[in-house]
Amino acid sequence: MKILVVGGGGREHAIIKAIRKNPAVDVIYALPGNGGIAADAVCVPVKATDIPGIVKFAMDAGVDYAVVAPDDPLALGCVDELEAVGVPCFGPRKNAAVIEASKAFSKELMRKYHIPTAQFKTFTDMKAATEYVERVGAPIVVKADGLALGKGVTVARTVAEAKTAIREMMEDGKFGASGSTVVIEEYLEGPEVSVLSFTDGNTVVPMVSSMDHKRAHDGDTGPNTGGMGTVAPNPYYTPEVAKRCMEEIFVPTIRAMNAEGRTFKGCLYFGLMLTADGPKVIEYNCRFGDPETQVVLPLLESDLLTVMRAVTEGRLSETEVKFSEKSACCVVLASKGYPVKYESGCPITLPKTGEGREIYVAGAESWDGRLLSHGGRVLGCVAVEDTLKDAVAGAYALAKSVQFDNGFMRRDIGKRALEARV
Ligand code: AMP
Ligand code: GLY
Repeated sequence: MKILVVGGGGREHAIIKAIRKNPAVDVIYALPGNGGIAADAVCVPVKATDIPGIVKFAMDAGVDYAVVAPDDPLALGCVDELEAVGVPCFGPRKNAAVIEASKAFSKELMRKYHIPTAQFKTFTDMKAATEYVERVGAPIVVKADGLALGKGVTVARTVAEAKTAIREMMEDGKFGASGSTVVIEEYLEGPEVSVLSFTDGNTVVPMVSSMDHKRAHDGDTGPNTGGMGTVAPNPYYTPEVAKRCMEEIFVPTIRAMNAEGRTFKGCLYFGLMLTADGPKVIEYNCRFGDPETQVVLPLLESDLLTVMRAVTEGRLSETEVKFSEKSACCVVLASKGYPVKYESGCPITLPKTGEGREIYVAGAESWDGRLLSHGGRVLGCVAVEDTLKDAVAGAYALAKSVQFDNGFMRRDIGKRALEARV
């Protein structure tokens, strides 16, 4: 089989490595891939947002199956366009990808179908938004409506901070059109859990839970990033919590999307907060998380491509999806200065990896046989072990054995999980 994977980050590298294990796979094309992915797939220089370019390539190459991984092409309707030329895909169509692409949509969906989430109001008028935060006070959360690379959220401790965020989004255009509508929501407290799930629109199968570390620096300080590391499973996600989430959130969401005529097929990511009032949805993503995928897929014992095709063909209920009982940790090596300002083009030398170790390349290009950094998040160093403690130690040992002078990592990935009392 010829497989096409749209995207070029650490998440896509993890997906590609898992798909490669299927013996029916002859070739995987990554569009655009990256210098590290090139070791596992044929990289083709077509941007993930160039939908006509992707469709043309798929037809010319005779691709049998496509996986569309990033949010942008999903929101642009890449799956619809590929399906229209007869290429079956893993990923939601445009009308379902809106669950991530518009926070105003997802919040209204949750309100309409009584899915637990923070209370909120949506604004298109800056004056009204400002008056609202003055009236209800802080702490309060301000979110840009559209896609903003995971950076469109301000958790404001003061009214002044909230007003600045509103002005930046609605007047200064910090996130372009994504910020012309803002959602202002109630501040919630509690441990956060990421749950990725497979769904074919009828059945929803949660994957092993995980915990992201979104802030750039130790102790959850510094600016928000795409994610500086992950662990799986998440110790806060007990079997009781999982049962509640299934009944109160996962199944109702799948049914709600069907009722809206927006059947969701693919990977639906639930960003949850476990509050004193029970689990609530912080966000939905219409795709695999990054770097959650880098700890979840190494624990998947079933064949990924088989599960993906079952999702596409609506056969998920009859397909086994089995996860190992082990634990995984991913430590991200980022370019110094990320997410604000950083250099690219710095040399990287990767160590050899053995059993239970993987390095997924997120941002690097290959130049003259050498790997050079290219982007903010550069590598995800992953270890799988019987215990979380050993997985964390293993991921750090692996990260330290990488030669990348311009890199930095958080030193406390997994600390909160190891200290969790549940
Ligand atoms: P999001 O991009 O929606 O996942 O938000 C980024 C981060 O902001 C989340 O991971 C939370 O830590 C925080 N956050 C978002 N919404 C809320 C909320 N209603 N209350 C408290 N923290 C929030
Ligand atoms: N790691 C968070 C995300 O993928 O959105």
